[in-house]
Amino acid sequence: MSPTGAPSADPSAANAQQGAYLTTATGVRIGDSDHSLKAGPRGPTLLSDHHLREKIMHFDHERIPERVVHARGAGAHGVFVANGAASEVSRAAVFGKGVETPVFVRFSTVLGSRGSADTVRDTRGFATKFYTTEGNWDLVGNNIPVFFIQDGIKFPDVVHAAKPHPDREIPQAQSAHDTFWDFVSLHTEAQHHTLWNMSDRGIPRSYRTMEGFGVHTFRLVDADGGTTLVKFHWKPRLGVHSLVWEEAQLLGGLDPDFHRRDLYDAIESGAFPEWDLGIQTFPDTPDQMFEGIDLLDSTKLVPEELAPVQVIGTLTLNGNPTNFFAESEQVAFHTGHLVPGIDGTDDPLLMARNFSYLDTQLTRLAGPNFNQIPINRPHAPVNDNHRDGYHQQAVHGGVAPYGPSSLDGGCPFVAGADEGAFVDVPVTVPEASKVRENPATYDDHFSQARLFWTSMTPVEQEHIVAAYGFELGKCYEQAIKERQLLALANIDDELCARVAQGLGLPAPERTVHYDEPDPSPALSQVGETWPTD
Ligand code: HEM
Repeated sequence: MSPTGAPSADPSAANAQQGAYLTTATGVRIGDSDHSLKAGPRGPTLLSDHHLREKIMHFDHERIPERVVHARGAGAHGVFVANGAASEVSRAAVFGKGVETPVFVRFSTVLGSRGSADTVRDTRGFATKFYTTEGNWDLVGNNIPVFFIQDGIKFPDVVHAAKPHPDREIPQAQSAHDTFWDFVSLHTEAQHHTLWNMSDRGIPRSYRTMEGFGVHTFRLVDADGGTTLVKFHWKPRLGVHSLVWEEAQLLGGLDPDFHRRDLYDAIESGAFPEWDLGIQTFPDTPDQMFEGIDLLDSTKLVPEELAPVQVIGTLTLNGNPTNFFAESEQVAFHTGHLVPGIDGTDDPLLMARNFSYLDTQLTRLAGPNFNQIPINRPHAPVNDNHRDGYHQQAVHGGVAPYGPSSLDGGCPFVAGADEGAFVDVPVTVPEASKVRENPATYDDHFSQARLFWTSMTPVEQEHIVAAYGFELGKCYEQAIKERQLLALANIDDELCARVAQGLGLPAPERTVHYDEPDPSPALSQVGETWPTD
């Protein structure tokens, strides 16, 4: 067990390595594992050598597919201690005052493969599995509070545009960067997230100094069934810190495992990283809007000045994994893993995620029983009605469960079992025709990007301009650079002019004009009350 009691790859628990002698997988003692069985010292090798065949067969299948995104990552065990502040708005046991919940957190980059470098410019994943007494709750977030797309149906497109292409296995076939910039300049809803990527947030100094965001709006349910809309925020106690571009470049060569090593070493030396978990709360109104911001649009955030973040507990990472494969690789997060008192919303990005994670894990973890893998096992009792399937670990007795059943023991459902059960919030679904379109409230793609740009200090703005210059400078297609410059003009004329100058191109005239007054440059995206070092 890990120090926090979370499942770990304890070899005895996994029944993997017992006894004083080497054996086959079926427990037969082996005398020689260095020489294959041959007809005489010069062979040929005999097919009857079962140990040889078993050893090679198992080695041949040691690798499992890497995650389709977020393949590169590192995890740690920890504990979340709630301060009780969320109890008023949620009946989830995990939020009860003083309640300690074991967690496993996996940090990741999005685009690189399993062996890629840690310090590249990219979004970072920040996924947390809470092993609550009421079942597992997964908060599968990123270090950037907004996302590239508003509707999950475009996820394959944005990932195809950014990941290596089939012909050369190089990101963006035609040049290093054309397809990514083609996508984000054609889908201008991606501009806000991309601007965060071009800022120092795209190159964190350490996992320990990253914020985390649930991104979507979630719905909390109190003991009386009352609901509140919320956004989740992780605030690092060490403050938010980034690398500078030159450091990131050097580290990519000198120590591509920089973030992984930093996390492991910090925990090993007892310098346990900590984050406060906070929520922004919004009334659960039928339109799910707050101060003109559509809460179901994941390309938008709600500035902390409009809805302050209230701390509801603290996370401490205090245990390294025993086995990288068993824990960091086999952990399976899912936005649909919710517990009573925490529910989702109709954000179309979240809906697609709820389908996607289960689906991808069916392949990645080979079959439907991946929740029985030690790292994924809930700490709450499990009494499901699933049976059999690949890699089934349980030996179920009796008849297969079905309900209703008049025969004793046929079904795990018993009278009164719905007390404490997950209750779907009976949200009213508006009467509407089936359509493939977005609400008009999704149309503004630029004003929040502008808010981010104007909230930056001069040095941070310099870094952003340099990042656009470097990344766009890699594009071969002039038309793509020009289209992206137009998107920048629509964010902010000065940003566009400075990037255009670096690229040696004329700055285009903006085509989008804001109705609302310019946001105040004093509005910051990050709460100023948080420790910064
Ligand atoms: C993996 C976050 C949108 C599909 C991940 C991981 C994180 C994450 C943190 C890594 C989990 C781990 O460490 O194991 C997010 C956030 C999103 C988002 C914050 C937007 C707000 C989407 C969408 C889709 C998607 C829209 C698909 C429709 C996937 C898949 C994986 C993944 C397939 C791999 C999961 C696995 O193999 O276990 N995502 N994601 N994500 N995400 Fe997302």
